[in-house]
Amino acid sequence: MTSDVRWLAELEDRARAVLPAPVLGYVLQGAGDGITASEATEAWRRVRLLPHVMRDVTELDLGVSLLGERVDVPWGVAPTTWQGAVHPDGELAMARATAAAGGLMVVSSNAGTPFDQLAETGVDWWLQVYLPADRTLAEPLLARAVAAGARAVVLTVDTPVVPARQHDGNAAWDGADSGLLRVNFDDGYDHESGADKATDLGPHDLDWLSERTGLPVVVKGVLRPDDARRCVQAGARAVWVSNHGGRQLDRAVATVDALPAVVAEVGGAAEVYVDGGLRSGLDIVTATALGADAVFLGRSPLLALVEGERGVARLHRLLRDQVTEALRLTGCRSLADTRGILATEPQNTH
Ligand SMILES: Cc1cc2nc3c(=O)[nH]c(=O)nc-3n(C[C@H](O)[C@H](O)[C@H](O)COP(=O)(O)O)c2cc1C
Repeated sequence: MTSDVRWLAELEDRARAVLPAPVLGYVLQGAGDGITASEATEAWRRVRLLPHVMRDVTELDLGVSLLGERVDVPWGVAPTTWQGAVHPDGELAMARATAAAGGLMVVSSNAGTPFDQLAETGVDWWLQVYLPADRTLAEPLLARAVAAGARAVVLTVDTPVVPARQHDGNAAWDGADSGLLRVNFDDGYDHESGADKATDLGPHDLDWLSERTGLPVVVKGVLRPDDARRCVQAGARAVWVSNHGGRQLDRAVATVDALPAVVAEVGGAAEVYVDGGLRSGLDIVTATALGADAVFLGRSPLLALVEGERGVARLHRLLRDQVTEALRLTGCRSLADTRGILATEPQNTH
């Protein structure tokens, strides 16, 4: 059997060998020239740590409290569309493996599995939404998610338009089996006038979402501290620092560089999450050292899903081992302890 370290390093190579070209292109693509997408992983490796020693790291706690509920691990699965194209069990396999790992799954509104089936896996899940120009068209989707037990709603705010992307990935959907996408919307949703993505999102939408769902609202796709402050003033319970995996604005800043200023601005008033380029347990610990309350992973679990539920389970297990190792090597017993282990104060405070 491939060693765990090699298995993780070769996730992308294995997917290349297995996935049809349009699906692979869709998963890996970045926007524009792919500048932001290609520098994301390397950016985490620039941070340097100052570990503690002579501390008892026998008993560790990998759990975190997110929106008032305990989650066993500090990473979750970010929302990704078209999981059914990566493996026939799609979101169900992702949910089963994530539930078994005690993790949290954020389900894309574009998902190809009905919410109630996902909920039956027992996974803790949050709904991700893009709001349409005519907000009322989103109401049936929101109602279905609430009825199926979503614990929070994540509003993605970095997508007023889907930009041109590499590998012709936007065209990939054209040939997609419609049963793999957007099954939680009303029939005919895409042909309704007003179903285009909203270009006028504002703080009032957070109130609207909170009233419609009764759920905590998380805002995904924030990179600036001033925007983070506006979101929190408008009632966001958490701000999710993300550049959408480099799939929206090419040349957007790496999330590792945006995170510290957002934490400085709203940390304490709201939770702060981060995604983008995180691939290992050490990346996860680096993010919590920089002040993130939790981390989300997009492409890694999607590439692990090539091997179905077993692949995603292996990824979760490996990350658990790596986070455990990183905590012991940094002299930390919990993710909260990692706050003090940066070698230098973050330079980038905008
Ligand atoms: C194939 C793919 C599909 C995605 N679909 C969505 C989506 O439906 N909604 C959303 O908010 N973000 C979506 N994202 C962005 C992810 O939630 C996340 O922000 C990003 O993938 C994190 O970067 P990483 O892939 O380097 O971990 C998608 C990303 C990928 C790679």
